[in-house]
Amino acid sequence: MKLSPSLLSADFSRIEEEAQSVLPGADRFHWDVMDGHFVPNLTFGPPVVNTLRRRLEEPFDIHLMIDRPARYAPKFDARSDDVIIFHVETKDPVNEVVSAILSVGARVGVSLRPATSLDTLEAILDDVSYVLVMSVEPGFGGQAFMPEAVPRIRQLREMIGGRSIDIAVDGGINAETIRGVVEAGAEIIIAGSAIFGKPDRRGAMRALREAAGG
Ligand code: DX5
Ligand code: ZN
Repeated sequence: MKLSPSLLSADFSRIEEEAQSVLPGADRFHWDVMDGHFVPNLTFGPPVVNTLRRRLEEPFDIHLMIDRPARYAPKFDARSDDVIIFHVETKDPVNEVVSAILSVGARVGVSLRPATSLDTLEAILDDVSYVLVMSVEPGFGGQAFMPEAVPRIRQLREMIGGRSIDIAVDGGINAETIRGVVEAGAEIIIAGSAIFGKPDRRGAMRALREAAGG
């Protein structure tokens, strides 16, 4: 299991210091890019993520909750072990989004809203190496975990079969919900408020790992 703290719940005025506060401990960093259209919230974009890319070693998950991922994906200075994640509900043609992500040399990830059928992934599973299952409606940190995500992760694991694809889960993960998603087959665990909402971030990460079963 890999822990990927979501900076959405961090203090943006001290973002680098906040990222450092989960090291050592974080395996990756999760960046929620929102445009106020695809989701009703605004965060940050390529200038912020690219600046931090130069200052941190761990791989990034760049979660694009935006209307036009094909237009903006090429603006990220991603490394080859970073994943740029688009939403299958995007208005852009999927093949254009995939090409845009590959053009910067990043891994391709796809995510889906809780109400979107897993069937929408069938056609693109051969083009991605990471699937992000949303366990809340995308847009905000600190929401309650949707338990329907657990059987979805299990079903996705079956759909993936022998392909080399990581399953990530995002939304409402805490010491009570983490075990179910790990047992169902999620390997990359994203957590925002359960880490940055606590004064002792490394302690919070240890508690998550323990609750996950080691
Ligand atoms: C929500 C974001 C999540 C968010 C999770 O749209 O995609 O990454 O930061 O926050 P928590 O862990 O607080 O639910
Ligand atoms: Zn996210």
